[in-house]
Amino acid sequence: MPRDLRLRYPGHPQRSLVRLTPGGLARLGAFVHATTGAGQVVLIADRRVDALHGAAARRSLRGAAIAHTTLRVPPGERSKSAAMLARCWDACAAAALGRDGAIVALGGGVVGDLAGFAAATWLRGVPWVGVPTTLLAQVDSAVGGKTAIDLAAGKNLAGAFHQPVGVLVDSTLLATLPARHRRAGLAEVVKIAFACDAALFAWCERHADALAAGDPAVLARAVERAVRLKARVVQADERERPDGPRTALNLGHTTAHALERVLGYRGLLHGEAVALGLRVAADLSVRAAGLAPEQRIRLEALLDHLGLPVRLPPVRVEALLAAMAHDKKRASGRVRWVLTPHGGAATVPRVLESALVRSALRGAGAR
Ligand code: GLY
Repeated sequence: MPRDLRLRYPGHPQRSLVRLTPGGLARLGAFVHATTGAGQVVLIADRRVDALHGAAARRSLRGAAIAHTTLRVPPGERSKSAAMLARCWDACAAAALGRDGAIVALGGGVVGDLAGFAAATWLRGVPWVGVPTTLLAQVDSAVGGKTAIDLAAGKNLAGAFHQPVGVLVDSTLLATLPARHRRAGLAEVVKIAFACDAALFAWCERHADALAAGDPAVLARAVERAVRLKARVVQADERERPDGPRTALNLGHTTAHALERVLGYRGLLHGEAVALGLRVAADLSVRAAGLAPEQRIRLEALLDHLGLPVRLPPVRVEALLAAMAHDKKRASGRVRWVLTPHGGAATVPRVLESALVRSALRGAGAR
């Protein structure tokens, strides 16, 4: 039985329909028709995902009489580039996609960010539908309208808020997700729980074995809880005001984005970098925000239980700090950190002493 969430954003007429529907990929065409009314789409798909699920997506589009062309994108963060964005525009141009058409993103966070940004910019904005196929995208990046590409200077530096008109969350697609990607997605579930919802955090602790093993029913429940929570936060603060509630969702991301950049977007998955960032944020929260040490221990134990990385690779602290200089939450040239005084109660970002930050990064494994 599909469950629908209808999201509204104060101050503009855009709406998003998020449909949680196991097996829903087979009904993609009807969903695209209902949400966009488009008779033509450009499908931007992760190449690996396309090999598994592209045929079903196209069959469904055909069944709804929606003309389509497909652009296949190599897997991995390095596809979130200006060159790949230009290839998306070229695909739209080759298909003569008009403003009455739409873009459909089939894949994980990389494809969603890239295709969403292509939709934000093609003809100054066309509608788009997300079909997130990774746990990370289903629980986090597909909802909320953040679209972007990475630049040499840093992650997500060029982008737009462009809400998808529809997000089709089919939890059965997670069956083909490699275990490492599943674990990485769980890091974002832990993040939203530790930042915003102590009850969800306790639920994750109780179901850690099933989550780690990829139990489909438990994963589907985790997706639904995380999506509902994220929808609430995003509707309250769509554009992430400097002191708004959406900033809490960046818990762990200051370190994570810097680490990914220093590593050249290779080696670590985004969710793995987030897990390491959460460990640093918890340490800083104990030292600077009054988080009880036992709560940090619970967070570390849960991340361990889920098989997420424990120590930063031996990158230089100074390299991380230099990468953080491009963090989007900085103000007056200073990086602002999201901390949490209690599990589930992250506060607005604040500036920290650099000696404290250096010490926490070193404690987590940086040199
Ligand atoms: N991934 C954090 C956000 O969407 O705000």
